[in-house]
Amino acid sequence: MADDKYNTWMLKGSGSTENLQYVQQTSAKLGPDEVRVVMHAASLNYRDLVIAKGSLPMTQATPNTVPGSDGAGVVHSVGANVVELRPGDKVLPHMVQGVSDDFLPRMDAISGGLGQAVNGTLCEQGVYPAESIVRMPDNMNFAQAATLGCSGLTAWNALMGLRDRAVQAGDYVLVQGTGGVSIAALQFAKAAGATVVATTGKGANVARLTALGAAHVINYKTDADWGVTARKLTPEGRGFDHIVDVGGDATLGQSFAAIRTDGVVSLVGVLGTGANKVDAMTALWSVCVVRGVLLGSKNMFRDMVAFCEKHNVQPALDDETYSLADAQRAYQRLEKQQHFSKVVIKIQ
Ligand SMILES: NC(=O)c1ccc[n+]([C@@H]2O[C@H](COP(=O)([O-])OP(=O)(O)OC[C@H]3O[C@@H](n4cnc5c(N)ncnc54)[C@H](OP(=O)(O)O)[C@@H]3O)[C@@H](O)[C@H]2O)c1
Repeated sequence: MADDKYNTWMLKGSGSTENLQYVQQTSAKLGPDEVRVVMHAASLNYRDLVIAKGSLPMTQATPNTVPGSDGAGVVHSVGANVVELRPGDKVLPHMVQGVSDDFLPRMDAISGGLGQAVNGTLCEQGVYPAESIVRMPDNMNFAQAATLGCSGLTAWNALMGLRDRAVQAGDYVLVQGTGGVSIAALQFAKAAGATVVATTGKGANVARLTALGAAHVINYKTDADWGVTARKLTPEGRGFDHIVDVGGDATLGQSFAAIRTDGVVSLVGVLGTGANKVDAMTALWSVCVVRGVLLGSKNMFRDMVAFCEKHNVQPALDDETYSLADAQRAYQRLEKQQHFSKVVIKIQ
């Protein structure tokens, strides 16, 4: 039940996570095309951290915006024009509002999205346009479902979004590190029947990656040529069909070393900002497809939900969970990269 008064985090601006303030709000009147959602869980993304810090281009927060890109909850009430949703529905908000079902967001749309320019998910209740809402998968709890909207959808788009090149049984897929995007990609690729090779910089993560189905795990900190090593693990050393690159300049050189002829390297992340630039012409010598991937469309989100139900994908979560009031400690865990997969904040 949504109360008139509710607790929420608020971004007073960008610059540091100290700009996050925990405040009490009064419920706003619902517009005719909006839904009020009682949030049950949210998960943090690298994006939420850089928005709080304003540390990358186009990541400044609009002051007095609720942070959070990802969340899951239950519809409490609907506006007068809303017919497709009703109280009690379990739902997930898409990060970008006011767009068509097949719209693929570019950076300007992402910057205008949840938790940066419009109110996000780190709140006890949120109001979202009904058109931005997607049904929650019925095989997941709220904490698991709260991982799908940002890192999950991006991983899905990377592997399944390129027409005629969706990952299929028999493919070899390389994922990097144990963050949210990479673990989602591992789980989706495994569910599709692919062989997955994973990297990590922490030996302690090997067992967990193996338990999730990684056929091989390589430590990228002790093996500088991990891409070359990974390639040797593919049939006849032909290379990978798909690589989800999360490190940018820090990983791209090795991704090019590992990709097969005509394979797809998805440029997803910038975890390695500051590393020496990788020459784009390397793609020519590697004879591969390089694809920039930003989030995904609402229809992709729906396809991902259906896939998760069909294959009973159960998103892996970090061992630590946090209450809403304790969200700043969750940000710290993410910033120190102490987490495995997703840092979840349980709200209800
Ligand atoms: N394009 C999009 O729409 C989109 C959407 C979501 C995220 N992203 C981007 O994708 C990246 C990953 O996001 P995330 O949410 O998954 O981040 P995350 O959960 O914070 O990932 C952190 C983990 O990445 C691994 N890592 C760090 N540096 C690495 C490196 N140089 N090489 C390989 N692995 C490294 C580490 O795993 P180990 O400890 O195991 O080494 C670390 O724990 C970020 O740059 C984020 O901005 C983009």
